[in-house]
Amino acid sequence: MNNEQAEIIKATATDANLRSYEEARSGFDWTEVEKHFSWHATGKVNMAYEAIDRHAEAGLRDKVALYYSDATRDEAVTYGKMKTSSNKFGNVLRRLGVKKGDRVFIFMPRTPELYAALLGTIKIGAIVGPLFEAFMEQAVRDRLEDSQAVAIVTTPELLPRVPVKDLPHLKHVILVGDNIQAGPGQVDFKGEMAQASDELAIEWVDREDGLILHYTSGSTGKPKGVFHVHNAMIQHYYTGKIVLDLKPGDVYWCTADPGWVTGTSYGVFAPWLNGATNVVRGGRFKPQDWYSTIEKNKVTVWYSAPTSFRMLMSAGDETVEQFDLSSLRHVLSVGEPLNPEVVRWGLKVYNQRIHDTWWMTETGGQLICNYPSMDIRPGSMGKPIPGTEAAILDDNGNVLPPNRMGNLAIKTPWPSMMRKIWNNPAKYEEYFRLTGWYVSGDSAYMDEDGYFWFQGRVDDVINTSGERVGPFEVESKLVEHPAVAEAGVIGKPDPLRGEIIKAFISLRVGFEPSDELKADIAKFVKEGLAAHAAPREIEFKDKLPKTRSGKIMRRVLKAWELGLPTGDLSTIED
Ligand code: WTA
Repeated sequence: MNNEQAEIIKATATDANLRSYEEARSGFDWTEVEKHFSWHATGKVNMAYEAIDRHAEAGLRDKVALYYSDATRDEAVTYGKMKTSSNKFGNVLRRLGVKKGDRVFIFMPRTPELYAALLGTIKIGAIVGPLFEAFMEQAVRDRLEDSQAVAIVTTPELLPRVPVKDLPHLKHVILVGDNIQAGPGQVDFKGEMAQASDELAIEWVDREDGLILHYTSGSTGKPKGVFHVHNAMIQHYYTGKIVLDLKPGDVYWCTADPGWVTGTSYGVFAPWLNGATNVVRGGRFKPQDWYSTIEKNKVTVWYSAPTSFRMLMSAGDETVEQFDLSSLRHVLSVGEPLNPEVVRWGLKVYNQRIHDTWWMTETGGQLICNYPSMDIRPGSMGKPIPGTEAAILDDNGNVLPPNRMGNLAIKTPWPSMMRKIWNNPAKYEEYFRLTGWYVSGDSAYMDEDGYFWFQGRVDDVINTSGERVGPFEVESKLVEHPAVAEAGVIGKPDPLRGEIIKAFISLRVGFEPSDELKADIAKFVKEGLAAHAAPREIEFKDKLPKTRSGKIMRRVLKAWELGLPTGDLSTIED
């Protein structure tokens, strides 16, 4: 099915935590992994305790948990310090009356304060909702409204994007910055932290109690709140060990922002559950800064995304040569298809095999992966991790034989599986419509040797630079623009970003197509929703293809764009 299949890059790792894939799978039992955690004595648990306090109390107090740097700061935070700063934040929330199960959102740039706030929220049993700092008002509003958050941790710079007046349930705005003059309902983070006690009575929770809400896009409707529970730690710990291959001496860097699931599952939980030193770099992407982050911190394990690797590739091999990257021993990728070309390049310039991993916000943790001990077939996502089973199903739930394309599905359950979609049980059920399986929405096939190969999305969800964007959200914003009558949005293939957002727009009477108007419409989405959600291409049309019930037919737009046959148009309006 794929002539790339013939290409194999041999495994080199001999000291990986997972020696042989087949060995690890046979007789695998999650209950063995569970024994790692203290709930076996108490029946109760807390993710933040397992990630930080446990290590701080077991001799790692002075070990660096976090190396943080950006253009103006350069700090090392020990496990001991992370324990006390998260304790303090837990106390700040408790004093405000925040309780177990309440939703607390965090909307700020990556800094040590963000991590203290995130862990402190979890320590008191509240549910944390991380928001990417690029979100604009509409995106923030939708998430806070849906979750009925009681508190938000943000900065004075981002505060204008939080529509506090319209959110009656939002009682506390905690501001992180210098010289904060806290108004009504506002709290000065630094002032409160300075006064708060170092000691906190941790809220011991049940493993099925809420941990985190990650909002993500589907093809219809507003973003959905994917709800995860403390039990996910089993998978985060285990995949951190066997997929990231983390060992005590590792310095690990996950480049993702905690606003996305990669930045929490693998930017917070997995590395700290494994007692590793975590690296966080604030600020925007710049190849030189990235390489110097690896060089300076002697990063050993690096987890990033195809778009970033492609951007590094286009920055040229000379840029790589200016840095000493010899500390690297394991490199991984997630979020979008990893081009074989990038894998070959990684081998050449980093002398590293880039290991693709597949998973989703909904799955909470990695599921299909290339292990250190496994030969890589460039272009393949790898094989299901021990304790899980993946298959390709037809639309009726029948398992398809190798080399047949179909729905990529995972046998339920696994420890980090989402437990609900916030406020939307019907949406949740859709993922499990084929009995016994979680249906991912991706299409793929499996080759004869059990490697999985990604083919595309089954629905209209757009993946631009690894970020999931729902076309409906963008369309809804577009039609708020005074010139826009109707809008249909698709993902258009792009060599750097995987896909870019393209909008087809019909204008209201009285408006004429122009480049200025295109720029203005794009700006409108950028400033109202998020920069990454703004269309990079706009095409004006007199009319958009619609069903008789008035739904814009994105598949026809896509076919137009790609010059493909439009298929069955029997349901189209005139
Ligand atoms: C896509 C990110 C190809 C896929 C952790 C999935 C991938 C969606 C890969 C989830 C991969 C993720 N190869 N495509 N290795 N990993 N995807 O929720 O379409 O932001 O359904 O989770 O990204 O995106 P999400």
